[in-house]
Parts: sequence; structure tokens; C-alpha cells
Amino acid sequence: MATHPIAPATGKLLVLTPGMGAVATTFMAGVEAVRKGRSLPIGSITQMQTIRVGARSDNKNPLIKDFVPLAKLDDIEFAGWDVKADNAFESARNAQVLNPQDLSPLEGFLSNIKPMKAAFESDYVKRLDGPNVKATTHKREMAEALRQDIRNAIATSGATRAVMVWCGSTEIYLRPAACHASIEAFEKGLDMNDPAIAPSQLYAYAAIKEGIPYANGAPNLSADSPALEMLAREHGVPICGKDFKTGQTLMKTILAPGFKARMLGIDGWFSTNILGNRDGEVLDDPASFKAKEVTKTGVLDTILQPELYPELYGNLYHKVTINYYPPRGDAKEGWDTIDIRGWMGYPMQIKVDFLCRDSILAAPIVLDLALFLDLSKRAGFRGIQEWLSFYFKFPHVEPGHIQEHDIFIQHMRLKNTLRVLAGERPVTHLAEGFDGEG
Ligand SMILES: NC(=O)c1ccc[n+]([C@@H]2O[C@H](COP(=O)([O-])OP(=O)(O)OC[C@H]3O[C@@H](n4cnc5c(N)ncnc54)[C@H](O)[C@@H]3O)[C@@H](O)[C@H]2O)c1
Repeated sequence: MATHPIAPATGKLLVLTPGMGAVATTFMAGVEAVRKGRSLPIGSITQMQTIRVGARSDNKNPLIKDFVPLAKLDDIEFAGWDVKADNAFESARNAQVLNPQDLSPLEGFLSNIKPMKAAFESDYVKRLDGPNVKATTHKREMAEALRQDIRNAIATSGATRAVMVWCGSTEIYLRPAACHASIEAFEKGLDMNDPAIAPSQLYAYAAIKEGIPYANGAPNLSADSPALEMLAREHGVPICGKDFKTGQTLMKTILAPGFKARMLGIDGWFSTNILGNRDGEVLDDPASFKAKEVTKTGVLDTILQPELYPELYGNLYHKVTINYYPPRGDAKEGWDTIDIRGWMGYPMQIKVDFLCRDSILAAPIVLDLALFLDLSKRAGFRGIQEWLSFYFKFPHVEPGHIQEHDIFIQHMRLKNTLRVLAGERPVTHLAEGFDGEG
């Protein structure tokens, strides 16, 4: 962790989003609504949460945004890429996340955010196509074109810094291949047009080469390969991912640590979803769903530690499905049936029916990641940012590290990282007088 002073957040911060669909436009609209005093940034840790400093009895609880030098919302600029040619207003209207009465006052602002041409190949997202794509599908040429786009967008916006958050569709499931083993192999792969390099990896590569922090909001392989991890370290760029933790997985990582804390057994956890937005349509393709399934099913094992508690969690049956159901649009419904066991082995059931709004839960995550990644860069952090695991279904961790999925541990780590960054002591919650921390 860096110990040198944090560079100030001087000038504008450009937030670049590959993908300008439901999540990205809800994020952009929300930031502008907050800036105009029309809304509150609910769900955003950077904007609304306080952080305790010192002993509890000190009663010092500044807002996080006043505690560490984050970019101000007024200093944020937006740019993005999309396969569809719709500007941010048209895209937000099509996504139907926000009501017309919330969207129309923002029309002038959002209409001005027009997507740059996407680096795209439909082989990687089967159920998608559109006219706003680069003329080439050669990987090296696409990567260089993206780098040029980034430089142009920074110049046009007048920003001093930029961050990139992948808000594009979920690509097909890919495992790291030979071209991901080193920077040299990856760059050779670009030259050779290696099919193991998907478009999201080109965006990540372009961002890192331009010295811009990168977060992956989707489950596909993107910056999480040895090649791009090394590149990020070499260029002093923070990266993190992957797959925003919203909806059902958010509930799972809230509930499971509680059951485990009380030593309640779990026999089964059946999760199913219906959703009807474009994301749902893309995930209807088995290859894209495979990427999602991997990030969604991994969480319970690391929270429950069946290897330590075989009697309680050794036979847990965990199943996750997603069903594309157009009438529901973005208003997803997620059901969980949880079969638990208590004293003397008696079975009980818990049913969760979460009528959630996916993009409403994801938008503040995009904001927080953009601001925290910008902070990380100014603090001299480089490579994988495990302290941002809090925001992800499948946290990107250093090779050999075990992912932490327990949201309460993730939250404590995030806040303690901020305390250390600001030169304060971490809070351990030991009793005051015991170690003086309170
Ligand atoms: N909404 C949530 O709560 C949530 C949670 C976790 C992860 N995610 C992920 O975030 C991503 C965005 O979700 P969404 O609901 O906004 O989806 P969306 O379908 O509304 O938007 C994705 C956009 O990305 C564009 N796109 C695809 N490939 C591209 C490329 N190579 N370059 C540029 N644009 C490209 C598509 O045209 C589309 O407009 C998805 O991968 C989704 O799985 C969303």
C-alpha cells in the first residue's frame, strides 16, 4: 500500500464507459440529477456514507467524500462507446429504467453524450449487433483505435484524468489462453488477431496503455489475465473487477454470512431470476450465461467454508438460473429458496422474493468505482485493487489469494483502506480501554 501523499483531484475527471446501455445511462442520468439537486445519490458509498475516525467516544464521523480527496461530482465528464448509435438520452429511454418525468429534464445533457464507434465482434456477444462499430476487426487496429479515442475524448472534455468502467454486454465465457500468459504474448496475439482476445480485453489493454484505471462490471474475462495484470503494474494503473454485485448475489452475500455466524446449516440454495432487458436477452445465450454462472455460484463456498464446517455446509446444493422474460424489462425478479437446518437438525425454509431494479442498484457502483479508482491512481496504487472487492460478484484478486465474498468483511476492508490512506488507524471494533480503539 502506498505511503506517499495523494495527488489532489485537480481538474475534471472523464469517466469512460464501453457500453452505453441501461447501467451506463442510469449512472450518467443519476449523476446529472444529483448535480442539479433533483435527486439524492442513494446507494453510493462515496457520496452518502460516513466513516468513523478514532475511538467511538471521539464522535468523529466525516463523510467519506470529505475524508479522502475524491473527485467532485461537478468535475465529472462522460464519454462512451456502443455498438448502437443511440445517444445517452435515446439509450436511457429505450432501457426504460427511469421514468419519462425523471428523464426528460435531463434530455439536453444526455443527448450530447454520443457513443464512439465500438470495438466489436458479434462472435463474442451472440445476440447483439449494431451499426456503430469500427471499420476494422483486426485486434491490433481496434486496440490502437481505442487508444486514439481515449486521447481524443480526454482532449475534447478538457479532463486532467480518466477512468474506464466496462458497462458493455457480457461476452462469451473464455478461459485465459497462451496469449494471456505475458505482455509479449498478448501483444503478439493482437498482431496475430488471436481469437482468444475478446473486445473487452482490447478496451482494458487500451486503458492500461494510456495509464487509465479500469474496472470490469461484467463477468467475462477482461483485465483478469496475467498479461494485463502485469501491464497494469508496469504502467502504474489500478484495475479491478468483476461483475457488479447487485440483486440476488448482493442478497446472498448479505444473508449467508449471517447464517454462518449463527452456525445454522444450509442444505440447499435455489436461485432463479426473470428479467427482460437487453442484458437478459444476451444472457439467454448459453455461452454468455456460462460466464455469469461462474461468477454467481462461486460466492457461497468461500463464505461458508464447507471444508471447515462439513456437517453444516458439506452437502449444500446450489443452483442459479436466469430466464429471459421480456415483459419484465429491467424490473428483474429474483427468487431464492433456502433450505436451512437448526438445533437437532430440524429443517426450516426461507424464501426471498426480491423485486429489484438491476440498473438502479448498479449505477451507484459505477460512480463509486470511478471515484475510488481515480483516488487509487493518485495514491500510487497499481495493479489489482482487492480492497474494492465489496462491489463485485467475483472479486479480482492476486494470483494465489482467496476471494473474499462476505460483504461485511469486504466493507470493513474498504473502510480500513480509506483510513490508512488518510493516515488514520484501522478500526478493529475491540472494546475501548482494551486496545484504545473503541
Ligand atoms: N444491471 C446490473 O445490475 C448488472 C449487474 C452486474 C453486471 N452487469 C453487467 O453490466 C453490463 C451492462 O449491463 P446493462 O444492463 O447496461 O446491459 P445493456 O445490454 O443495457 O448495455 C450493454 C451495452 O453494451 C453494448 N456493447 C456490447 N459490446 C460492446 C462493445 N464491444 N463495445 C461497446 N459497447 C458494447 C451493447 O450494445 C449495449 O448497449 C452487462 O454485462 C451486465 O451483465 C449488470
